[in-house]
Amino acid sequence: MTLDTFNLICIIWAVVGVASFILLQFVTAPYGRHVKKGWGPQISNKLGWIIMEAPSLLLLLYFYLSSDQSLYASLLSFLWIFHYINRTFIYPFRIRTQGKKMPLLIVGSAIIFNCINAGLNGYFLANYETYTIASFSHWHFYIGISMFIIGFLINQISDNILIHLRKPGETGYKIPKGFLFNYISCPNLLGELIQWTGFAIIAWNYPAASFLIWTAANLLPRAMDHHKWYKNHFAAYPKKRRIIVPGIW
Ligand SMILES: NC(=O)c1ccc[n+]([C@@H]2O[C@H](COP(=O)([O-])OP(=O)(O)OC[C@H]3O[C@@H](n4cnc5c(N)ncnc54)[C@H](OP(=O)(O)O)[C@@H]3O)[C@@H](O)[C@H]2O)c1
Repeated sequence: MTLDTFNLICIIWAVVGVASFILLQFVTAPYGRHVKKGWGPQISNKLGWIIMEAPSLLLLLYFYLSSDQSLYASLLSFLWIFHYINRTFIYPFRIRTQGKKMPLLIVGSAIIFNCINAGLNGYFLANYETYTIASFSHWHFYIGISMFIIGFLINQISDNILIHLRKPGETGYKIPKGFLFNYISCPNLLGELIQWTGFAIIAWNYPAASFLIWTAANLLPRAMDHHKWYKNHFAAYPKKRRIIVPGIW
């Protein structure tokens, strides 16, 4: 496949991501606090996270091990694999969700989302990349890696605060406080967005840009749904708290 054809596939996939963003304005993804009956068979929430995130980790690992990538491309593969080791094998064991379930439909659609995004990014890094050592001195690298690290830290700190709102064995929800929660409802989702924006800037290619569009298409509607949910469930929810952009939105 030529690089032009590959890039066209990435553009088409990004357009599907925009369509998904529009759809998610009308449908709330039914997992976590939004889980409800009527979405077909359900499985354990923790198992669901492992099954749906594993393909992303395994595909990038496969493409990395089966190709001879430059140092710069190897770093991109490493960042991706690093993120998905946490998301697949650490995060699900940290959450305190007490036997909560999620619909198989969510798991299935996330598997498709992850296979295509990891497939496109891994395939690019294995077959088309032309990075050199000089790429490390380009502004893309400095800005992108800084954003990736800052985003990852914001995501981790925020998820950690949320997870510890429940004591072991506790269920239910509380109003999160401290850190960026003083300004926005979903700093964990903001962190994830900054992280993948950083990745797209380091990579500066079509599949990473397309993945960023898909990430935003998922996370922005989820942040809107979370914010609305907080306001509906807590009369004392801070009025000044925004959705995901401090002071603005
Ligand atoms: N890249 C992507 O496309 C993508 C898409 C979705 C999620 N993610 C990432 O996956 C992670 C989880 O996302 P999410 O939307 O499921 O996060 P979330 O709703 O904020 O939940 C995170 C964890 O904290 C618990 N929690 C949240 N708010 C709470 C509260 N007020 N009181 C008590 N416990 C609370 C949740 O329990 P419950 O499950 O019981 O609600 C869950 O275990 C995030 O890091 C996110 O960035 C990435």
